[in-house]
Parts: sequence; C-alpha cells; structure tokens
Amino acid sequence: MMAADHSVPPSLSASVEGSFAYLTIRDRLPTILTKVIDTIHRNKNKFFEEYGEEGINAEKQTIGLLSKLRNELQTDKPVLELTDSLQDAESWNQYLQRQQRLQGDQESVSWFKSPWLYVECYMYRRIQEALWLNPPISDFDVFNEAKTQSFYASQQAVMALCTYLEDVRKNMEKLSKNLLLEHFNTLLQVSLWGNRCDLSISAGQDNAQKTSPIESLNSLQPFILVNDSSMVWSTLNSPQEPGESGTKTADRVDIVLDNAGFELVTDLVLADFLVSSGLARQIHFHGKSFPWFVSDVTVNDLQWTIQQTMGANHKWVSKCGFQWRNYLKEGVWHYHEHPFWTQPHEFCDMAADAPELYATLQQAALVLFKGDLNYRKLTGDRDWDHTVGFSTALRGFGPAPLCSLRTLKANIQVGLQPGLGEKLTSQDPTWMTSGKYAVIQSFCQKSE
Ligand code: F6P
Ligand code: MG
Repeated sequence: MMAADHSVPPSLSASVEGSFAYLTIRDRLPTILTKVIDTIHRNKNKFFEEYGEEGINAEKQTIGLLSKLRNELQTDKPVLELTDSLQDAESWNQYLQRQQRLQGDQESVSWFKSPWLYVECYMYRRIQEALWLNPPISDFDVFNEAKTQSFYASQQAVMALCTYLEDVRKNMEKLSKNLLLEHFNTLLQVSLWGNRCDLSISAGQDNAQKTSPIESLNSLQPFILVNDSSMVWSTLNSPQEPGESGTKTADRVDIVLDNAGFELVTDLVLADFLVSSGLARQIHFHGKSFPWFVSDVTVNDLQWTIQQTMGANHKWVSKCGFQWRNYLKEGVWHYHEHPFWTQPHEFCDMAADAPELYATLQQAALVLFKGDLNYRKLTGDRDWDHTVGFSTALRGFGPAPLCSLRTLKANIQVGLQPGLGEKLTSQDPTWMTSGKYAVIQSFCQKSE
C-alpha cells in the first residue's frame, strides 16, 4: 500500500457489523445513550436540591434531547448540525459539510452510512450539546459515576502498583542500567494493559483491574503482537545531555491520555517513574475538554484521582498522590486540553487543522498515545491490510517520535508480520475487538 492519498483504503463504516466482544456498533451506541439518560434521571433529586425547579426542567429538557438523539441514531436519520455556541461547534459543522462533499450530494450523511469514527465521536459531542443547551446542569459529567466506580474497584491493583513504584524509587540510585530498563519495560506494559479497563467497549459495565498488574505481565507477554519498546527506550536515551544517573534525559515526554480509573493510575505511575529515574525532565499530559467515550480523562478526573490517592489509607498510594500533586505544582508535570482531541479528525489532519497543537507535540522527545481510539485516529480508522507499515498508515503524521500503547478493540491493525493476521483470525475471530491482544507500536522518524 502506497502512502499516496489515492491508495488509502476506505474508512471503516458504521454499517460494518464486526464481531465485537460485547456489542455491535449499532447496539453499543444506543446502550450507552440509554445509560446516560438513566443517569440523568437518577440525579433528578440532586438537580432539584441544587437548582430547584430550574434543575428539574433542565433534567427534562436534556432527557428529551437525548431521547431524540437515540431515535436519530437507531433509525439512520441524517447527521444534524450542532446548534450550541461552544467553541468547537463551527468546526464540527464544517466537518459535516466535508463528509457530505466526500459522500456526494445525493443522500444526506446519516448514522449507518458514515464512517464509524465520525458518528461515534459525533454522538459524544451531541451528548455534550444536550447538556450545554440546558443550564444549570451543563457541567454535569454523565460518566462520572462509572469512572469513579472503576477507580474504586481497582484499589488492590492501585496499591500493588504504588508499592512497586516505591520499591523502585527507594533503590533508584543503585539501579544498574539493565535493571532500569527492566522497570521501564514493566511499567510501560502495565500502562499498556491498563488500557483494557475502558468503559466504552463494555458500554459502561465494570471493567476494572482486579488482579496484581505486575504479576499478570508474564502471562500477557504472548498477547503483545508488536513490541517496539526497545525503540522507545533508545529514543528516551538518545537525546540531550547526560542526567544524574549517568543515563541521558529526554527533555519532555508527552502522554496523550485515554481512560480514567485504573488506566490513569498506570499512566501516572509510568510518568512518575520517567521523571524520578531521570529518563525525562518533564511530562506533558493531554486530556479531554468534556466527557468523552465514557471513561476518557478530563481535568476533573485527574484532580479527583490525585485527591483520592493523596487521601488513601495506604502509605505508598498516598505518598504517590502527594508526589503527583507536587509535580503538577512545580511544573514538572503539565496538563493540557485542546478541542482537537474531542473532534473526529484523523491525526494526519492535525498539522493543517490544529497547527498549534501539532507545534506543541513537536517539542516532545517522545509522544505516547494511549488506547484504542487514539490508534484509530493515528491510522485513520482505515481498512488497512495488516502488513502495511505503521509509518504508512500514519500518512505523514509525526510531530515527534511516537508510540501507541493500545489493546485491540476495533477492527484495525497494521504493522503485523505476514500471515499473523490470518493465523489469529482462524484461531480467534474476535482477536481485533476483544481487548485480549495489544501492541506497543512505535514510529521514531520526525517529519518536517
Ligand atoms: O467503541 C469504539 C471504541 O473506539 C472501541 O474501539 C473501544 O472500545 C473504545 O471505543 C475506546 O477505547 P479506548 O478507551 O481504548 O480508546
Ligand atoms: Mg477511552
């Protein structure tokens, strides 16, 4: 497959009925919407206590808009323009026009006939619209309960992980390069498998980490289909001046976050390890500016998670919490939001459509992209042959050396050895969507 535009395979369509682990696309979105409606309804008393009659009216109106949305998506109605005045509404409406041009003018862009990536993203933006049009409940996070429950359900795993980090930190000065590499690989893989715990694939059902994340790593090894971690290690060790430990220090590592709950803790632990080991000087996190794909991290989730860890009744968990708060206070860690992350664009469009975000990422020595949705956007959610190279599928996107840490939950995978895709399909037809397999897939050449 050539990188030229005419050879790009079609986007995965919303009408494709793949063998999804839990639910098909057409079932999953209405199920999520039904849960959202139920959550809003269950919070009626809270809205009344906070805002009186106005709160109750807002609840009713929001539910009305969401029920209409569910009907539109179940009956393949045209995708509608956004009507709120949020900063990104104009760009969403332009994107709709772009889809319409691509599809031709005969038929309207509609839910079943449009690219899956687009309609899925659009649904989350319409949920936001329904809330935004109904102050005073506009800021209500409809997925908050699911996210906090997933964090609480993973407590044993959080304790095990923070205890591991404390042991590493205690011995950091005596660590040989080999041991440092071993811990790096361990924490990179913990962060990788943390991505299993998203709530969108399970339509909001409990998907928490219940076992020790370190102990399970060995048995999970055979399920990593591509492992470019040595490339990532070399990237971290190649730039800039030597750090204190004799290893070299990357100025800045950016982490494009995915899910709150246990996955976020694994990312914070990895980020902590990178700075406390001297492998990186600064970490820049990128999160979502409104609730997205059920469990994705917003700034509130980050703050809440750090508060919870600080207040934990476990020495090492709470030590981590305080350390993380200080990293943020002291500017060792930074948190960023950008509307691009909650839009449907493929990442190869970033340089043109969000040049300032692209320029921000260009400052990184390494960018880690967490999760399945980021992988779909990196590769354009296209029907690529499995042997096509990751760099080809990126189609020019490469602000900095980058790595995707992703468990497979969508019908797309590139960069496999010839024959592997076919072998997996014959052994386990759900291999691309079950979350059982994973990749650490890297691209280290900077584009201009
Ligand atoms: O539902 C589509 C999807 O992108 C799946 O592929 C995946 O289940 C989920 O949404 C998001 O996964 P992640 O949180 O890993 O991006
Ligand atoms: Mg997610």
